[in-house]
Amino acid sequence: MRIVITIGGSILLKSYDNKRFEEYANIIREINKENEIFIVVGGGLPARNYISVVRDMGLSESICDEIGIEVTRINAKLLQLALKECSYPKIPTNFNEASEYASCGKIVIMGGTEPAHSTDAVGSILAEFVEADLVINATSVDGLYDKDPNKYSDAQLFNEVTPEKLMEIISQNETKAGTYQFIDMTAVQIIKRSEIKTIIVNGNKPENIKKALTEQIGTLIKS
Ligand code: UTP
Repeated sequence: MRIVITIGGSILLKSYDNKRFEEYANIIREINKENEIFIVVGGGLPARNYISVVRDMGLSESICDEIGIEVTRINAKLLQLALKECSYPKIPTNFNEASEYASCGKIVIMGGTEPAHSTDAVGSILAEFVEADLVINATSVDGLYDKDPNKYSDAQLFNEVTPEKLMEIISQNETKAGTYQFIDMTAVQIIKRSEIKTIIVNGNKPENIKKALTEQIGTLIKS
């Protein structure tokens, strides 16, 4: 399979720990034995910290986004370094480059592309662009719940959700640079229009990314 894996910066950069990067690199290498892999890395806390400085300067949301994108690319570079020779050494800045770099058979890792969306959207567009079979979105929660699991002990995890239902749920969320969302609306629109099979898993345990290939885990977004 051709698989796009998106990894939230908030889980990858939780503790600025090289072991974390190596754990992910090991899992990705395993998956890569039988699949072609593209990776998109998010910004996490460092992106939010940098963005808040720029926002305090009174600059526009697009400029805040540009700073967020730069941070996602640094995070992508760190994962590329951890993956060593099985990865392509350059970080693509757009989808054409990603596709071109992948032609040598190596794992391609990228961050953001342009303002006004998150790396979730980059993952979906990349999947559409390279005609991937699957997107695995490794995030900081187990999947989509019917209500906030941190507030309600009886919150139920959805095993499966349609893009339409997901749009309805996330349409109330904030869309400022660096703000957290379960998944970005642009990403869901792309998933919907191209019927991209997408699985949201808790990436705090990197092995969940591998599990998503063989067992029911997290939330599947499917039309
Ligand atoms: P992300 O949105 O991917 O990171 O990029 P996040 O929301 O912090 O999510 P986690 O924690 O990694 O899961 C960080 C910021 O970079 C900008 C946005 O401002 C986003 O909030 N960005 C990123 C873009 O504007 N365009 C992109 O293509 C990617």
